Amino acid sequence: MYMGDSSCLSLAVGLMVLCVRLVSAAGGRSMMRGETLLANGLGRTPPMGWSSWNHFGCNIQEKLIKETADAMVSRGLAKLGYKYINLDDCWGASSRDTHGRLVPNATKFPSGMKALGHYLHSKGLKFGLYADAGTRTCTGTMPGSLDHEGKDAQTFASWGVDYLKYDNCDNNGINPEDRYKKMSEALLRTGRLIFFSICEWGKEMVATWGNDMANSWRTSGDIRDSWDSMVLRADRNDEWASYAGPGGWNDPDMLEVGNGGMTLEEYRSHFSIWALAKAPLIIGCSIPKMTNDTYEILSNEEVIAVNQDLLGVQGKKVKKDGHLEVWAGPLHDNKVAVVLWNRGSKKATVTACWSDVGLDPTVAVKARDLWTHSSRYALRHQLSAHLDPHASKMYILSPL
Ligand SMILES: *[C@@H]1O[C@H](CO)[C@@H](O)[C@H](O)[C@H]1NC(C)=O
Ligand SMILES: *[C@@H]1O[C@H](CO)[C@@H](O)[C@H](O)[C@H]1NC(C)=O
Repeated sequence: MYMGDSSCLSLAVGLMVLCVRLVSAAGGRSMMRGETLLANGLGRTPPMGWSSWNHFGCNIQEKLIKETADAMVSRGLAKLGYKYINLDDCWGASSRDTHGRLVPNATKFPSGMKALGHYLHSKGLKFGLYADAGTRTCTGTMPGSLDHEGKDAQTFASWGVDYLKYDNCDNNGINPEDRYKKMSEALLRTGRLIFFSICEWGKEMVATWGNDMANSWRTSGDIRDSWDSMVLRADRNDEWASYAGPGGWNDPDMLEVGNGGMTLEEYRSHFSIWALAKAPLIIGCSIPKMTNDTYEILSNEEVIAVNQDLLGVQGKKVKKDGHLEVWAGPLHDNKVAVVLWNRGSKKATVTACWSDVGLDPTVAVKARDLWTHSSRYALRHQLSAHLDPHASKMYILSPL
């Protein structure tokens, strides 16, 4: 089980190992960035916004998107950084027009995509769309962009698109790296800055090459609104932590917070871990119908600030004892973000030693609790919390 003060002190060697790993992760990442093909300068911090998929699936139309945008602004979420309004699958007509261009489904989007882009931009928001690196999109309702990359990228740019999620269905077994690179180059050639979010479900060790052509890459298949699905994605994504950094992020998929399949504590853990892991914070519930409890989670500015920290180092799992875990990552100004997480089914105490989280074991720290918004001062050696099943605590530790 967990140890007291003296064992925390005896783990000073762990500190050195962690520090070396964090430094080399950040260094390796910036060297790779120099060689990137996608020199669009976007995603210096993880993208924040909303996507239609998790809650609405195929059931999207113009009115819903505008109401979502309106609510994003009126509830103050846009001001907190949630800027992208992303239409997922099912926005388009089932076939291309006579010029071979993708066109919106005119029943669902009667004003067209350019008008929708204008609407979003007029509210200070950004416009995201979905396409597929195969012959059909995953629902089969729209043509894919394979072998139409140049034309489709031009179309998106002409509509004012700012973000493209690029899926992986009906891909004819062609190597993803080749298919995704074509769209990346086509987007760059348009001259419009378009955040490129690749969604090939974490295949072919995407983290090792995604950074060369994309601003984010999915590290797994689609999330579902359940505890098991969420923790599995957190763990998969964690394996690739050292590949993330400003300009290119690991993506464990969109948030399920507010969709009803997890408890509030589970959703709080979901949001805390996504924030710590520098995941894209793409809300997946209904913004106009969001409850106050959901709003309270998604609008936590202190947690968002960890996600948007300019150092851009992905926090990771640094200690595991059965179902009790400590996740941590460095922030600017020598601060450290920490999540204590009880993933078991019984109440338990989770402890982080300074040596577990990359702090000098001798320092006194201020611990800011990001969910109760309260601070404790001059803590030494370790921090513990007694946690309900599936609950977590999130802190920023600042050496005094
Ligand atoms: C537009 O969407 C509706 C509803 O999903 C569908 O029935 C219709 O066939 C679509 N139209 C085109 C042109 O794809
Ligand atoms: C939700 O929050 C709003 C704004 O703070 C408040 O006016 C309203 O009473 C709250 N609703 C509930 C059910 O607590």
